[in-house]
Amino acid sequence: MATLAPEDRFTLLSDQLKDQPQPPIAATDSNDDHQVTQQQFLGQELLWDIIFGGVTSLILRAVVMLGVPEILAQQGPGASLSVAQIAAKLPNCAHPNVGALEHILKYMARRGVFRLSGSDEEPHYGLNDVSRWLAGNVGNVSPILLLHTHEVYMATWNHLHEAVLENCLPFERVTGKPFFEYAREHPAFSSNINDFMMCYSKGVMAVVLKHYKGFDDLKSIVDVGGGVGTALSEIVRVYPQLKAINFDQPHVVANAPRIPGVEHVGGDMFDNVPSADGVFIKNTLVDWDDEKCIKVLQNCYKTLLPKSGKIMVVETILKSCAKNPKSCTKKGFFEKLAEIVDVSMLAFTDGGTSRSEIQWRNLLAAAGFTEIKSFELPEAIVIIEANAK
Ligand SMILES: C[S@@+](CC[C@H](N)C(=O)[O-])C[C@H]1O[C@@H](n2cnc3c(N)ncnc32)[C@H](O)[C@@H]1O
Repeated sequence: MATLAPEDRFTLLSDQLKDQPQPPIAATDSNDDHQVTQQQFLGQELLWDIIFGGVTSLILRAVVMLGVPEILAQQGPGASLSVAQIAAKLPNCAHPNVGALEHILKYMARRGVFRLSGSDEEPHYGLNDVSRWLAGNVGNVSPILLLHTHEVYMATWNHLHEAVLENCLPFERVTGKPFFEYAREHPAFSSNINDFMMCYSKGVMAVVLKHYKGFDDLKSIVDVGGGVGTALSEIVRVYPQLKAINFDQPHVVANAPRIPGVEHVGGDMFDNVPSADGVFIKNTLVDWDDEKCIKVLQNCYKTLLPKSGKIMVVETILKSCAKNPKSCTKKGFFEKLAEIVDVSMLAFTDGGTSRSEIQWRNLLAAAGFTEIKSFELPEAIVIIEANAK
């Protein structure tokens, strides 16, 4: 068979697939003759999606940074605007480059992010079921996008391979600081994290409060590493009898909103934890290695011991793909996020890691807790409950 240049091979394959070929499709490789099946070709398609996924999320970042979804939302349901009309409404921009905006919006519309109407000469853009999640106050996921496309995040990922080769911490290689120390010194980055966690926590808490009734028997509760108090604000809405303390680093609680029924307390969970008869700790221990987790859990144990109180650890877990292949193909939002978190810990923390349910139970036992029980909720969320006695 003749040897084809790679670009010709690709064209040949695309053309043949267009004609609805019966796999396998004959194709040549410069080194080795082999058959490329439709299945294999789809493999390449998936790869291209992965390759350009990173660029697409950065283009989407530009759309959000420009405020386009908010501009469209302000026009009311079903409205659409031309690029020039959108450009004229960009906040703080007297002389926008309309042509540049057109390229950006055209790309995102082609990816299904905007509703396209009008003509080729003058397309109009409106929100659709995708872009509506980037505007407004309810369910807006922009904070997830903005944190995960932040330039410090992007730079960190560029060093991921060095975590393997040199056992280094990519985030520290980029910033020179551990994650939470860097956040403390960079308020804008810190508020990106808090906005992201607020967005994520609202979703997780909806699942927790629907399926878990363990707050019924409590009079007081402290959320350790509770961020700006999102989880507690959801909990006290359902359990208004609870005296609630949101405990986090001083600079985090200093910027937290006032929440009726929730007292914000600043401190260091590695030193001590405020007293309550229930400790809630959600998506916080994952950031730390076993030794640090046990230290925090021992502080929780100490604060709970006088009242024989209980701890509730909430984390997402990765289900075994080997035991349950279905769980690897069909995933909810938080399961997908759990997969990202699993690898993010390598890049952003010093020893943070996802753990299995057994590993979480072992950490609680190591800190002295007894009567350890697990509640498996939808979306790969697990609550491990245990008592201090
Ligand atoms: C991943 S966030 C989780 C926030 C919150 N639990 C949630 O689920 O939305 C981890 C939190 O741990 C807090 N944290 C980190 N180090 C801490 C420390 N030494 N003492 C108290 N909180 C700390 C961070 O400020 C951050 O809010």
